[in-house]
Amino acid sequence: MLLLRGFCAHFIDFYRQTDRGRFCSPREAICPRRHVGGSPIETTNRLGDARVPLLNRLLRRIRKSEPPVRLEDCEFAYPYLNWVQRCVGHGSYGRLRRHYTWGVIQAAFVAAELKLPRITVVEFGVAGGNGLIALDMLPERLAAFFPTRIDVVGFDAGAGLPPPQDHRDHPNLWSAGDYRMDADALRKRLSHARLILGDVSETVPAFLASRPAPVGFVAFDLDYYSSTAYALRLLAADASLLLPRVYCYFDDILGFTFNDYGGERLAIREFNQQHADRKISPIYGLRHQVDERFRDDAWLDQMHLAHVFDHPLYGHPDGLVRHGRKPLNATE
Ligand SMILES: C[S@@+](CC[C@H](N)C(=O)[O-])C[C@H]1O[C@@H](n2cnc3c(N)ncnc32)[C@H](O)[C@@H]1O
Repeated sequence: MLLLRGFCAHFIDFYRQTDRGRFCSPREAICPRRHVGGSPIETTNRLGDARVPLLNRLLRRIRKSEPPVRLEDCEFAYPYLNWVQRCVGHGSYGRLRRHYTWGVIQAAFVAAELKLPRITVVEFGVAGGNGLIALDMLPERLAAFFPTRIDVVGFDAGAGLPPPQDHRDHPNLWSAGDYRMDADALRKRLSHARLILGDVSETVPAFLASRPAPVGFVAFDLDYYSSTAYALRLLAADASLLLPRVYCYFDDILGFTFNDYGGERLAIREFNQQHADRKISPIYGLRHQVDERFRDDAWLDQMHLAHVFDHPLYGHPDGLVRHGRKPLNATE
């Protein structure tokens, strides 16, 4: 009995801490210095507590025990997609990243609605590899919900940040060599994800030449304006290599010294100026559509959509609005 009470107390304590987002990624997501000096792969959870995996499994089972949300009962897809994310797990102690999970779920859902058999999801800037590992866990977990298969790819220089080119790369925040990776250690931890090493100015064109499955989600975390501008060439690719709308997460656009004249924000603005048929735009008011646990999260302001207006499927129904009817309510 005592043992059971102790277990319950730990469980409630753990649940409170994690589900309020105290240990979750959004806070670290806006911290550009979080991995400086290398980004070791996390071998334990953030609570440093061996009980957490067991508790997390229990938590997931409890969440799974909620009645399933049926897509056919929804006016919009969001309640269903939020339920999928609850089943997959929030990754409260840092292995899954809620913003990555959300973006990949949206992409897999739209791809399935468009009857695409396979998509690619990408992380630009891998460092130690925790983000790529989080992405790598998703295809297996989402296979139960979506028929579309998911390829995971990570791009990184491997030797840490290159030297900043000018003030637009925010040299006040970062230096050459920050975020070195141990590629061998990381590769051992990956199930299926591909790690592509080299400067993105060279690896992105080669990747596109290999004709990957359409890209549906991209996490941009290269820190620099110059690197992000190169990486954004992915979104200028032939439409057959992209979903009609690509979910994009930009890690370095909030707080610190980020501004419209440097970093990721400048790269986005220039991309939009240079491409009449492709536009990257924030997803406004996302907090009204995500699971209520996420409503104060910073990543909601970091999530964008790249609109591929010249995509043959751009105007094809993507399933986000289900019924398209609003009958008059009955009188009381
Ligand atoms: C902040 S770290 C990425 C952190 C990682 N996404 C995470 O959450 O753990 C930035 C990474 O971008 C990579 N990077 C920056 N510019 C690059 C470029 N031009 N080509 C390839 N990789 C680059 C660096 O090697 C570095 O590992």
